[in-house]
Amino acid sequence: MADVKILALVGSLRAASINRQLAELAAETAPDGVTVTVVEGLGDLPFYNEDIDNENVPASVVALREAAADADAALVVTPEYNGSIPGVLKNAIDWLSRPFGNGALKGKPAAVIGGSFGQYGGVWAHDETRKSFGFAGPRIVEDLKLSVRFKSLDGKHPRENAEVAETLRSIVGKLAAEVG
Ligand SMILES: Cc1cc2nc3c(=O)[nH]c(=O)nc-3n(C[C@H](O)[C@H](O)[C@H](O)COP(=O)(O)O)c2cc1C
Repeated sequence: MADVKILALVGSLRAASINRQLAELAAETAPDGVTVTVVEGLGDLPFYNEDIDNENVPASVVALREAAADADAALVVTPEYNGSIPGVLKNAIDWLSRPFGNGALKGKPAAVIGGSFGQYGGVWAHDETRKSFGFAGPRIVEDLKLSVRFKSLDGKHPRENAEVAETLRSIVGKLAAEVG
């Protein structure tokens, strides 16, 4: 059977992003038969604008939508910005939500995880992303949750935290199992 393909969307653009490290760890530790690919270039997407969402959409949007169409499932890995969804992620969700009712992730399972330095690990952003991404077309698997308090990592890479690494691996496996 072909691999289950999971597209990972990271809500932080910074090079040393811990959320990106989590997404990369998800890719490294994915169970056999599951491939996790981290989407590049979310920062190159223009702000969503219906006037440019036509047959000549920018190449960055075409690439995102093609990657989404090719995927079987989606994994969002995001920090919380000011109690909510980082703009770069919300913008990607908006592009993926069109064509209305027929976006490239329509009906595909999706999970939302990540972490932040606050005491709740970014849970507000995760909850709001579940709501927003759910409107955009994917089927959110609500019980796949991980909101890492980055202070608990003690400045180390998330792979060095056995509990986080194991939870992440389990979430990727369960998300893949949701693919029909
Ligand atoms: C603009 C901005 C807003 C932030 N707002 C929050 C917040 O609301 N809650 C929180 O826990 N951390 C917040 N933080 C801190 C992030 O948790 C921290 O920068 C985290 O490392 C970002 O994830 P990353 O390592 O993947 O970039 C904010 C950071 C920035 C830059």
